[in-house]
Amino acid sequence: MCGIIGYIGNKQALPVLIKGLRRLEYRGYDSAGVAVLDKEKIHRTRAVGKIDELAEKVKQEEILGTIGIAHTRWATHGGVTEDNAHPHFGKDGKLVLVHNGIIENYREIKEKLGDKHEYKSETDTEILAHLIESHYKGNLREAVEHALSHVRGTYGLVVMHADHPDSLITARLGSPLVVGVGEGEYYIASDATPMLTYTKKVIYLEDGEVAEISKDKMETFNLKDEVITKCVEEIEWDDEQAEKQGYDHFMLKEIFDQPTVFEDAIRGRYNLEEGAAHLGGLNMTVEEMRSVDRIILIACGTASYAAMVGKYAFERLAGIPTEVDVASEFRYRDPIVNEKTLVFGISQSGETADTIAALREAKRKGAYVRGIVNVVGSTIARETDGGSYIHAGPELAVASTKAYTNMIAIMMLYALQFGRLRRITPATGQRLLKALREIPAKMNQILEQADKIKAIAEKYKDYKDVFFLGRGINFPVALEGSLKLKEISYIHSEAYPGGEMKHGPIALLSEDFPVIGIMTKDQLYDKMRSNIEEIRARKAPLLLIATQGDEGAKELSDDVIYVPDTMELLEPLLNTIPLQIFAYHVAVMLGRDVDRPRNLAKSVTVE
Ligand code: AGP
Repeated sequence: MCGIIGYIGNKQALPVLIKGLRRLEYRGYDSAGVAVLDKEKIHRTRAVGKIDELAEKVKQEEILGTIGIAHTRWATHGGVTEDNAHPHFGKDGKLVLVHNGIIENYREIKEKLGDKHEYKSETDTEILAHLIESHYKGNLREAVEHALSHVRGTYGLVVMHADHPDSLITARLGSPLVVGVGEGEYYIASDATPMLTYTKKVIYLEDGEVAEISKDKMETFNLKDEVITKCVEEIEWDDEQAEKQGYDHFMLKEIFDQPTVFEDAIRGRYNLEEGAAHLGGLNMTVEEMRSVDRIILIACGTASYAAMVGKYAFERLAGIPTEVDVASEFRYRDPIVNEKTLVFGISQSGETADTIAALREAKRKGAYVRGIVNVVGSTIARETDGGSYIHAGPELAVASTKAYTNMIAIMMLYALQFGRLRRITPATGQRLLKALREIPAKMNQILEQADKIKAIAEKYKDYKDVFFLGRGINFPVALEGSLKLKEISYIHSEAYPGGEMKHGPIALLSEDFPVIGIMTKDQLYDKMRSNIEEIRARKAPLLLIATQGDEGAKELSDDVIYVPDTMELLEPLLNTIPLQIFAYHVAVMLGRDVDRPRNLAKSVTVE
């Protein structure tokens, strides 16, 4: 996720900005930049790579000034290059800004601005700078307000102008912004982390608000330029906690990020009226898409369980035979691949060695090879001939959570994109899209039960073995829940399709061997209920994930976690979340290093 810093006060801005960028490093980034205003001249320096690269560069220059802005970029639009790094200028080099978010309608804006504007980057942000400048007639705040009324998407931004050395303009919609209140100085940042060194007094900007900030005052307005009164709050966090936004671990923060980043994944990638999806990164013509007669989803670990959900989507929506292959197996099994095969490599890091090797093998055999990855500019993103970024923001905990749900979101959209070329009607597409749009709110309903899930986790934390059971599209959910528990709590767990228990595993059941069953209301509910009754008869402790309103689940189990109802295809997006929270709390209660579990790495870059 990009990081933003702004400073106006009596100190030299540059050291404050560089130090602030270092406090935002935890957000993940691939380039950074600063801009400082000194006597009507804006000095801008940018660098790809770590903050140290940028710090080295600015050392070579004499950059003075007590007002400035800075940015760490987590690439979304445009590759990882210095030209794409923020801050970005408008046309005449007097306006400069930094931005966190996605401008969905940047193409339309660019067309409206016309060809008198030349751009030096591939970013939506630079277009925003030109747009604001096109509205500037001497009042910077008004120019920002007018420009933003034409923008669709999300932004957290800070704007600086050479003709206004005494003020910064900041605005927020969908990307957080915090203002730190000092003595004769103000700090603006994406979160409180960078300012805790200087002040714990903060003002949180809300969506749709614009603020004009000078050294001595801050005035806040809505987009209609009406004054808004804001209150100053006191932060209790220390630095370390601030990096985690107050959560005890990155994993918990990332579990709670899911509703927001899910919206980032689907935003601007579908057309509700047409009931269709459009992921431009696919980079295939309609004829090429129609020629595909087989899809192979290649991944490892959690990504492979997301792929197993994707299989259901591609087969049900697009009617294309779809296989899921663990990357480390794919490359050694003489896979049948040809020019009619579409291979997706699914990977949060985009650097998993087994997945990279498998994709190279598929490419060698002539398949279409595309990526579904989180890290922009990663090896898989670069080596595939197209694909989509999942926009989950940096996922820093080793245990993958928000990347998993966002991977599924992207595969749902791809399945719809192919399906609408083949057998899906607009009405069916609209039904899926409406259900997808409801997912963030339904995720929040589950997250609100976190304390209840924590209390349930307490009851299961001392068991040595656990079964996870699911059927159909919920079997991958059982696999993912089992992986979460074992990789962070070190409790042995296994996942089975519900129908498999009677073929052997049920022999293990006892009062010391609990079962976590996913029994939500889908087409296999009755079958799963019978499996659960078999389990119950063996006196195994039983926790169920059930659909809200299913009172019968209580009689069948020791504990129930209820989830909202949704389309069967989308159930994994909801049913997995209680299992993430459950595993997290069990691990914390057992005193595990939740974000950095033993023996594991965030990205397995070796075979
Ligand atoms: C998931 O919690 C694990 N950290 C691991 O299974 C991970 O999903 C796997 O290594 C794949 O990583 P990738 O998505 O970066 O390719």
